[in-house]
Amino acid sequence: MQTLSNKKILLGITGGIAAYKSAELVRLLIKAGAEVRVVMTPSAQEFVQPLTYQALSGHRVYVDLFDAEADSAMDHIELARWCDLLLVAPASADFLGKMNAGYADNLLLTLCLAAKQSVAVAPAMNQQMWANPATQENVKQLAARQVIVWGPAEGEQACGDVGAGRMLEAAQLLDNVQRHFSPGRLEGVNLLLTAGPTREAIDPVRYISNRSSGKMGYAIAEAAMRQGASVTLVSGPVSLAAPAGARLISVESAQQMLDAVMQQASEADVFVACAAVSDYRVDQAAQQKIKKSDAAMSLKLVLNDDILATVSALERRPFCVGFAAETQDVEQYALAKMEQKNLDMIAANRVGDGSGFETDFNQLEVFWRAGRQTIEHAGKAEVAKQLIDLIAERYTASLA
Ligand SMILES: Cc1cc2nc3c(=O)[nH]c(=O)nc-3n(C[C@H](O)[C@H](O)[C@H](O)COP(=O)(O)O)c2cc1C
Repeated sequence: MQTLSNKKILLGITGGIAAYKSAELVRLLIKAGAEVRVVMTPSAQEFVQPLTYQALSGHRVYVDLFDAEADSAMDHIELARWCDLLLVAPASADFLGKMNAGYADNLLLTLCLAAKQSVAVAPAMNQQMWANPATQENVKQLAARQVIVWGPAEGEQACGDVGAGRMLEAAQLLDNVQRHFSPGRLEGVNLLLTAGPTREAIDPVRYISNRSSGKMGYAIAEAAMRQGASVTLVSGPVSLAAPAGARLISVESAQQMLDAVMQQASEADVFVACAAVSDYRVDQAAQQKIKKSDAAMSLKLVLNDDILATVSALERRPFCVGFAAETQDVEQYALAKMEQKNLDMIAANRVGDGSGFETDFNQLEVFWRAGRQTIEHAGKAEVAKQLIDLIAERYTASLA
C-alpha cells in the first residue's frame, strides 16, 4: 500500500557504520510512495558512496553546503522547506552533539537548523558512546526541543559489543515514519500483555506446562505497536523472537508472571491477558531430582492466584481484556469468566479444528458488556490486528 504517497522525506546520513542500512530505508520509503532526497555529511561519504543513494532515490545526493553546481531552487533553505519530514538516520554521536549545540558547519546540520517541519533522528553508535552522559544529555535536550528520537535498539554491534546503540532496522524506521504521518489508534497508550505458557516445577528438571506457543500474544504485541502503543510483554518460555520495540520481561512460572505483571500494572492503560497460565502448581516442588521407584506416585497441586482477576480488582485498574480458550461451550464459559473476573472484554476461542494452540491460525468470538463481534478464521497476525482495532475502539469508548 502506498501509505506515504505525496510525502516528501529528506533523509540525512551521517558517518556511522549503519549508513549501509539507509540504502534499504530509501528503497522502502520509495516503495511506500514517498519522494526521497538524500543529504550526506562529509564523513558519511567515507562509508557509502553518494552514487548508491542517487541510484536508489532517483535524485542527486546533496553533500556540500558550498556546492557551486547546486540547483538554486534547492539551496539549503529550500531543501529544508521542501520536506515534510527530515530524518537523520544514522545519526552519529558527533552529529547529535553538534545538532544540540546548534552548529551549522555542514549542509545537513544547516538543514536541521533551518527546518520548520518535524526533524527525527535515529541514533546509531557503539553502546559505550550511547551510554556516555554527553550523548544522553544531547539526546535529552534535543527531545525537549521536539526533535523525535527513534531508537536505538539493543543487540550485537558491528564492533563486537552487545548493548544499546544499534540503529533501528530499516523496516522499523519505515513503520515509525508511517505512524508519524498517520498516528495509530493506541498512540500514547501503555499496553501490558502476557503471552505464552507457564512452567510449574515438579523438581529441578521436570515441569507441568501446556501447549501454548505464544504466537497469538506476540502477534497482539506487534499489532498494538503498529497502532502506536508502548507494549510491555510478560512472556512465558516460547521459541519466538521478541517483537522489536516491545519491552520484554521473560518469566517461567505463574507466580513469576503475576509478580512481573503486578510490578507493571500501575503504569498500564490496557491489560491483555493472553498467556495460558497454569491454574495449579505443585505444592512442594522437590529440591532434588525425584528418583524413579516401583511405587506409583501422586503430585499434590495447589491453586495459583488468578493474574487477570488480581489486576482487574485493583483500585486503579487498566482496561482489562481476557482470553478464554475452551474446547466446549465457548460462549457460555467466556461470558461467565467476563462476569466473574469483572473484565471489560473477553476474546474466546475454541481450541482444536486448526485454531488456537500451536497453530498459526485462530478465530475469536469477542464479547464486551454491550456487544460482541466475530473475528473470522485467519492467520494470527490478521486476527491480532482486528482484535487490537476492537480493543482500541472499546478502550477509547471507556474513556468517554
Ligand atoms: C569505522 C568507523 C565507524 C564509525 N562508526 C560510528 C558509528 O556507528 N556511530 C558514531 O556515532 N560514530 C561512528 N564513527 C565516528 C564518526 O564517523 C565521526 O564521529 C565523524 O566525525 C562523524 O561525522 P558526522 O557526524 O559529521 O557524519 C565511526 C568512525 C569510524 C572510523
